[in-house]
Amino acid sequence: MRILGRGKGPPRGYDDHLVTIPFLPEWVRPVRFGVLAAVPLPAGVEPVHEAVLAALHPKEQALALQERGRRQIEVAGGRLAWRAAAAALGVDVSKWALLSDSARAPLSPPGLITSLTHKEDLALALVGPSDAGLVGVDLEGGLRDRSSIMTRVCRPEELVEVQALPEADRWPNVMLRFAVKEAVYKALAPRLGRFFGFQAARVDVLSREQVRVELFLEATDPRFELEVELLWLDAHRVVAMVRAR
Ligand SMILES: CC(C)(COP(=O)(O)OP(=O)(O)OC[C@H]1O[C@@H](n2cnc3c(N)ncnc32)[C@H](O)[C@@H]1OP(=O)(O)O)[C@@H](O)C(=O)NCCC(=O)NCCS
Repeated sequence: MRILGRGKGPPRGYDDHLVTIPFLPEWVRPVRFGVLAAVPLPAGVEPVHEAVLAALHPKEQALALQERGRRQIEVAGGRLAWRAAAAALGVDVSKWALLSDSARAPLSPPGLITSLTHKEDLALALVGPSDAGLVGVDLEGGLRDRSSIMTRVCRPEELVEVQALPEADRWPNVMLRFAVKEAVYKALAPRLGRFFGFQAARVDVLSREQVRVELFLEATDPRFELEVELLWLDAHRVVAMVRAR
């Protein structure tokens, strides 16, 4: 496995980086379920430069060019992160494009499974071997308190736990549940072939580093065993990675 950039240790806080170059993979690191790659995204809504698009497969370029503004930046950034992660796993990425199905789930080349996330200045791709299970990744965080979404994200029993916390601890706790649930969705939705909401999972927050997930799917749905890995990029931003088997 080829590790680029600072990938050998845990990613340092983003404040430590003196220079980040938009669209240039910043780090690629092994994680429990495969390889995680990060690509910095520029601010604003300027069209993605053609020199950046040239690093994509022609079909990915076409996909990006169908979009405008932030969506174009996200689509390009996510694919660049995917190319860095897949290359680290030994895939000849010149031959493959990462396209999406009609529900926006990534369509990986044979043998691989992919999940993408992008938030503000960063796109991440989690890529693993498809025979190891389904994967999902989600990046959440930032300084803005969005605890108003807690009633949508939490099951009633989770809400009781959150509301028992000191006010300052509520949003970080909800954010963690939110990230894990979105990662669960990205892992399972392509297999279930349908939408399912936040009530379909309960996240027990054991610590900042450890959570446990219980699923509440339909009785006719397959049963899944879930594993979660959390990676804090800094004090406020967390990457939730989920593997389902
Ligand atoms: C689909 C959803 C999870 C995407 O999350 P988001 O925070 O809006 O966006 P992110 O940047 O983190 O992720 C975007 C990526 O998600 C992936 N994605 C979107 N829909 C997907 C699906 N149905 N299956 C798998 N991956 C999907 C795509 O790769 C997308 O990137 P791209 O469109 O650039 O290729 C979110 O919009 C959503 O609908 N959530 C409600 C469902 C849910 O989370 N239920 C909880 C179950 S416990």
